[in-house]
Amino acid sequence: MAIKIAPSLLSARFDRLGDQVREAADAGADMLHIDVMDGHFVPNLTMGPVIVKSIRPLTKVPLDAHLMVTHPQDFVKAFADAGVDDLTVHIESDHDVRATIRAIRDVGISPGLVLNPATPFEKAIPFLGDVDLVLVMTVHPGFSGQAFQADIVPKIREARRYVDKEGLATEIQVDGGIKVDTAPIVAEAGADILVSGSGIFPDRIRENLMALRRAAEKGRASSKRV
Ligand code: DX5
Ligand code: ZN
Repeated sequence: MAIKIAPSLLSARFDRLGDQVREAADAGADMLHIDVMDGHFVPNLTMGPVIVKSIRPLTKVPLDAHLMVTHPQDFVKAFADAGVDDLTVHIESDHDVRATIRAIRDVGISPGLVLNPATPFEKAIPFLGDVDLVLVMTVHPGFSGQAFQADIVPKIREARRYVDKEGLATEIQVDGGIKVDTAPIVAEAGADILVSGSGIFPDRIRENLMALRRAAEKGRASSKRV
């Protein structure tokens, strides 16, 4: 499977969000990453279902929502109705993780599970068979434009090894500080989907996305799994 690139709209220009969405889609984005923050789980406020609903008709590219909220279980239906294709929830949020994953599946969209940098991979293991993706954060969530935490690379490798050993179809996504210099590192470690905000938006979207994909593919080619 080819590496997937998920541009994060958090770094887009919101005064012309529609154009930026179309540009990223035309440039070959595999999914569009939507960072949802509630000002409580993380100290920032961003987008909600209203924005998802307004960009949904602009593209067929899957919308990948990353919920950085304290109570993700309260928003499952609203995001599904707004048109997201998957909903990724933090294991550190205040919820019954298994019940939220089931609720996401029940509304007909794809569940994902996220781990903060401080959370060990083993915490995700009991849920891995029930989610379609596991997101390994390579920055502390809350803001785009932060520096990549290289000390998280062994966790990506650990996730890759576990998923392969168990024969799971769970995709491994990484998010935070992914640019042309760090993309090869995470791709080599075994990431399937690379989220990038400030590495792609707001200008030269096509050039940035293509350069990121090339860099990631080089990284993957240098690993044993191509
Ligand atoms: C951080 C968000 C990321 C962020 C990535 O809390 O989850 O998706 O937008 O932005 P960059 O790629 O600039 O680190
Ligand atoms: Zn994100």
